[in-house]
Amino acid sequence: MKLVAIVLIALTSVGASPSIKYGKHANNPMEVDEFKVPVVEIDKNFQEILIKIEENENFEDSLNIPIESPKEHMGLHYIETAEEMEEIGVNTQSINPDLIEDAFLLVPELIRKHGYPSERHSVRTSDGYLLEMHRIPFSPLNTTTERRQPVFLMHGLLDSSSTWVIMRPGNGLAYLLADLGYDVWMGNARGNRYSRQHITFDPDGRRSDRRRFWEFSWHEIGLTDLPTMIDYVLDQTGFKKLHYIGHSQGTTSFFVMASQRPAYNDKILSMQALAPVAFMSNLRSPFVRAASFFLNTLDAATGALGIYEFLPSSELLALGGQAACRDEAWTQALCYNVLFLIAGFNSAQTNTTMIPVMLGHTPAGASANQLIHYGQGVRSGRFRQYDWGMVSNLWTYGSISPPAYNLRNIRAPVALHYSANDWLAEPVDVEQLHQGLPNVIGKFLVPDPLFNHLDFVWAIDVKTLLYDRVFQIMRLVEQGVLPFH
Ligand SMILES: *[C@@H]1O[C@H](CO)[C@@H](O)[C@H](O)[C@H]1NC(C)=O
Ligand SMILES: *[C@@H]1O[C@H](CO)[C@@H](O)[C@H](O)[C@H]1NC(C)=O
Repeated sequence: MKLVAIVLIALTSVGASPSIKYGKHANNPMEVDEFKVPVVEIDKNFQEILIKIEENENFEDSLNIPIESPKEHMGLHYIETAEEMEEIGVNTQSINPDLIEDAFLLVPELIRKHGYPSERHSVRTSDGYLLEMHRIPFSPLNTTTERRQPVFLMHGLLDSSSTWVIMRPGNGLAYLLADLGYDVWMGNARGNRYSRQHITFDPDGRRSDRRRFWEFSWHEIGLTDLPTMIDYVLDQTGFKKLHYIGHSQGTTSFFVMASQRPAYNDKILSMQALAPVAFMSNLRSPFVRAASFFLNTLDAATGALGIYEFLPSSELLALGGQAACRDEAWTQALCYNVLFLIAGFNSAQTNTTMIPVMLGHTPAGASANQLIHYGQGVRSGRFRQYDWGMVSNLWTYGSISPPAYNLRNIRAPVALHYSANDWLAEPVDVEQLHQGLPNVIGKFLVPDPLFNHLDFVWAIDVKTLLYDRVFQIMRLVEQGVLPFH
């Protein structure tokens, strides 16, 4: 069964001073013992449903296990009011008002509330999108007058710059980096709640406007948004290079940029890829696999995933919920949130107290094509440009299938941080990427077998399990120790 491949993976250990295995053919004193852990299997019921879907049985009939359909508007949007939160079963009276406030504040205000300075910057892309960036220029805990090296953080699918700050100082990556003396910049991709603006096209306007606004995937985010934002940061700070830290789609779009616009490799000091997504044939996310089923025709795909903007049908949400949701009360609220349906749950590393805050900031918006482009990768097993269908491909690319992204162009040093229980970045798929990249610093497994896709930004122990190692690698790159050649 292809979905349940039990993969054996190497686990490197991490402690107070993490030992690190560097490079593709690590052969250095820092090499550590490897041991093997099995990957957690996905839900049995869901496997049966997927098989039916793959055998082309009627999709609705395959939903034979009753589940309450999420209400129309739910799961598709971040929650903006206490009333909306009550509707999905969260008792807001029992929640600390301080947390409710965090749930509804916008990123710059949220940062200031927690005692850090914040800035809002707006950039315009060459194709007319207005992107909002957020900055923590320094930390009150580090008032050094040294120049501060800029770090650029890029969020994942259906997420935003909030992902780096909602877990508060001491835990959120943006705060930790500021405390270490970095100048922290956070991007927002076109189409999310902070970058839902275009000089001409209205994302909620006439059908033709909506089509023009939402006609992009992570290809355009990598090709245009990232270079625009990176150039802006370097221009504002006077630095020639920055560290790039991406999560999930923030890594996919980086790989697009670095392969399609190779000159940008020279602007990257290091790329820290958290839960890297490029090859997807072994991806386990029930939701994304189900979505990839709809790709026989683009119409069917946009019907189930939303037309233009990503607004999945209630059937698809029900299917995802059926596969993902357990009985525990706290997961029920998350079951209404499509981001968790896509990325999975991990009760051990989820700070359940913070769930209302997560629900207030995600899902932050995306185009249907972003999901469809991922679905294409699941089916094709290739990391390549958007598939418009044979005829349009010929017109667009001059070939019947879309061209693959050339990984050999990615000269920037890349550190791959991955985990065993990641529904979107399977260890075997990460290994394929690892083999293809010409300048890898190393491949680093998070030493927790249950660590999942969202734990890379929100886990209770994310600092000790992951970030301390990221910081160590960044410092070694700055000192010229890494990458090994
Ligand atoms: C404070 O920031 C500076 C400049 O980036 C850095 O060199 C220093 O290590 C930081 N101090 C601490 C305690 O992290
Ligand atoms: C969970 O979040 C709350 C609120 O921010 C915090 O007080 C608590 O310490 C966190 N729990 C853990 C286990 O980190």
